Amino acid sequence: MDYFNYKDGQLWAEDVAVADLAARFGTPLYIYSRATIERHWHAFNDALSNHPHLICYAIKANSNLAFLNLLARLGSGFDIVSQGELERVLAAGGDPAKVVFSGVAKTAVEMKRALEVGIRCFNVESLPELHRLNQVAGEMGVKAPISLRVNPDVDAKTHPYISTGLKENKFGISYQLAREAYRIANELPHIDIRGVDCHIGSQLTELSPFLDAADRMLVLLDQLAEDGISIHHLDLGGGLGVRYDDETPPEPMEYVTALLQKLKGREHLELCFEPGRAIAANAGIMVTQVEYIKDQDDHHFAIVDAGMNDLIRPSLYEAWMKIIPVEQKDSGKSQVYDVVGPVCETGDFLGKKRELNISQGDFLAVRSAGAYGFSMSSNYNTRCRPAEVMVDGSAAHLVRERERFEDLWRGEHLIK
Ligand code: LLP
Repeated sequence: MDYFNYKDGQLWAEDVAVADLAARFGTPLYIYSRATIERHWHAFNDALSNHPHLICYAIKANSNLAFLNLLARLGSGFDIVSQGELERVLAAGGDPAKVVFSGVAKTAVEMKRALEVGIRCFNVESLPELHRLNQVAGEMGVKAPISLRVNPDVDAKTHPYISTGLKENKFGISYQLAREAYRIANELPHIDIRGVDCHIGSQLTELSPFLDAADRMLVLLDQLAEDGISIHHLDLGGGLGVRYDDETPPEPMEYVTALLQKLKGREHLELCFEPGRAIAANAGIMVTQVEYIKDQDDHHFAIVDAGMNDLIRPSLYEAWMKIIPVEQKDSGKSQVYDVVGPVCETGDFLGKKRELNISQGDFLAVRSAGAYGFSMSSNYNTRCRPAEVMVDGSAAHLVRERERFEDLWRGEHLIK
């Protein structure tokens, strides 16, 4: 559930009319709802309230500082994949002791910084990474807390670009090698084994792949216990899907209830989740304005002011995202449109074959744009990235200014 609803034919974000925000801040514009972000985070945290746990929001989904700060104030942890994301967590007032660090290509510099600030855990994705971390920690005279990210080889049944838990994917250490990898880790002087980690993919709409992965992790945990290696936490990654159209992904509570059945007798094992999309996607919309209606033969285009540089999901994954009018009309007739952007690429579209009753100048909202929206935006075609606004009840806060042209070439130099 979210707080973007129609009242009298007008789209509202909490208690603010979206059309007013578009007029005030311009378009394209990302709008987030504080109440929705908090509600989604609590859905995970409350589901786990009777079990030791930590919710580590995957900040790649939406890394705006105001967004992170809201979660930090709720006591959230964070899943990061780069030093940049770590610096964002710190700048937003997040607690480094609640940070887990995923990613296949951590550099020595990133490791050093993460050790300096005292993160909770490195999710190590390969043996060479483990050896590098051991060395960096040794040079600093500390021990690095780790989980090994294990690739459980289960099919997440999602888009191939966002499926990560199959053996052909680049992520994690293969399930067959995991036990041996833990033995190696256990011998390293500057490594402190804390957990077991996996993440099998994103936008999962069924429980069974999560539960299959959990089963495999629990078998590994028992093998590790036989080897005298005790595990403090099990990190099952992120991946819970959201409703873009008519999907019916499980609620966090359903997921947790099914998992806790499997964890009987392991009441001290901390559970960690890394949700990104499930917290952020439906907490945000992107608003765009119709620049032109172009009718050609039997094709109708709604040419809007937001393009693939602002929101790349439809172009990159052929992701279907709902497009709705900001003001519903009583008159006029609807037409089937391809909603396309200004970027010079055929793949620049927000949606195809959408039935809409619109005219030039109207505002449209792309729903579920809070995750992997702004965070994947770029300056392609030398376009300024949009502004971001956080609505909180009847207040609207500009949480990121629209870029200006000078921002785009800052750091560039002419030669003589
Ligand atoms: N943990 C790890 C290690 C991850 O790689 C990811 C996402 C997450 C957690 C969070 O997954 P979520 O709960 O958001 O599904 N750009 C794509 C999604 C890429 C996901 C990458 N990893 C999209 O727009 O669909």
